[in-house]
Amino acid sequence: MSAPRKGCGDPDFRINIIVACDLNRGIGKNGTLPWKLPSETNYYHGMINHLKSSENQNAVIFGRITYESIHDPKDYENLLKVVVSKTSRPQPEDKNLRFVESFLDATGLIWDEKSLRNGGIETIWSLGGTTVYQETLQSPFLHRVYYTEVQSKFDCDTHFPAMDLTKFKIVEDSRVPSGIQSDNGVQYKVTVYESNNFA
Ligand SMILES: NC(=O)c1ccc[n+]([C@@H]2O[C@H](COP(=O)([O-])OP(=O)(O)OC[C@H]3O[C@@H](n4cnc5c(N)ncnc54)[C@H](OP(=O)(O)O)[C@@H]3O)[C@@H](O)[C@H]2O)c1
Repeated sequence: MSAPRKGCGDPDFRINIIVACDLNRGIGKNGTLPWKLPSETNYYHGMINHLKSSENQNAVIFGRITYESIHDPKDYENLLKVVVSKTSRPQPEDKNLRFVESFLDATGLIWDEKSLRNGGIETIWSLGGTTVYQETLQSPFLHRVYYTEVQSKFDCDTHFPAMDLTKFKIVEDSRVPSGIQSDNGVQYKVTVYESNNFA
């Protein structure tokens, strides 16, 4: 019999996805974003860094390629960064950076940190790419999907998995830009989906 998954049964152990997709669910091209939407990028950084208490920290989970695509490490310096990779190893000088070999190890590591700090990890964000998003969508810890629909079609080589929308309801979050936004001549809209597992 396998060991119980760390965090199971704890309603406060939740993971949010944040993603921007084009009309074909495209998310990336050649290891980077297919578009330049500075206001959407600002919203993204605001969300993943938002804390109710400055004594707490947020955690992010990403695949190696998404981690390597970070432009400015300062945008992530206060986050506990958990990189899923079977090949890379941590840079020892960053105490907030961890490498793990699976998504299960990522959630287990964050669960241990949260327990050690008496809950001091506030929000856990899943930042992609495709496999990490897929595993988060299948996870019992999935709480919300902050879904930016970029209302154009781009040339993409990486995609967000299909979501079963019957498993979600749409909810409001005042931190999210309301209605259709426009940036660099491209329109986008943010919708927040909440898993029906959370009443
Ligand atoms: N639009 C958006 O919101 C958004 C969000 C995220 C990413 N992106 C884009 O998407 C692209 C990157 O996504 P991607 O799907 O190609 O790559 P990725 O998931 O970021 O990285 C893939 C690598 O991560 C590791 N990995 C991922 N899942 C794993 C698992 N379950 N177990 C073990 N290792 C795992 C492996 O690393 P090793 O090879 O080291 O073993 C794998 O080769 C980029 O273009 C990025 O800009 C866009």
